[in-house]
Amino acid sequence: MILTEQETTTLKELQAQEKICVDHYNMCASNAKDEGLKDLFTQIAKDEQDHYRVLGKLAEGEVPNLPESRLDSSTYHPAAAYDSASNQGDKQHDEVLCSDSIGNEKLVSADYNAGLFRFGSSEVRKILNRIQTQEQEHAEMIYKYKQQNGMA
Ligand SMILES: [Fe+2]
Ligand SMILES: [Fe+2]
Repeated sequence: MILTEQETTTLKELQAQEKICVDHYNMCASNAKDEGLKDLFTQIAKDEQDHYRVLGKLAEGEVPNLPESRLDSSTYHPAAAYDSASNQGDKQHDEVLCSDSIGNEKLVSADYNAGLFRFGSSEVRKILNRIQTQEQEHAEMIYKYKQQNGMA
């Protein structure tokens, strides 16, 4: 697949953003107080690593396979880790990690939406669209976690 300069630049920008997402979620996974939330962040970090790899392949003109997300947002049911008897400092700390992550997913999702319109190849558009959906699902799972823990 031959890409235009603008297409290549767009892919590289999206890829650089995915690198930040990988680092963000790895950091959140090591900082989260609740084990369940650590697990969620760890799984999402792996999805972001897939996104990073897939964008790199696309930028080289290949049409890679995008793996499915590691967690299914429609069947994701987090356990409640916090209640009124819990350490409120820990809860607040984890809530900030969640809200921050949802904000990031929102921005990244918007960038995929805008970026997609620049591509001539429907293959590339489909892959970017599927990545965008995965970003929305990441946000959805974190939202579910917040709801379950009285943070939303
Ligand atoms: Fe991503
Ligand atoms: Fe994401």
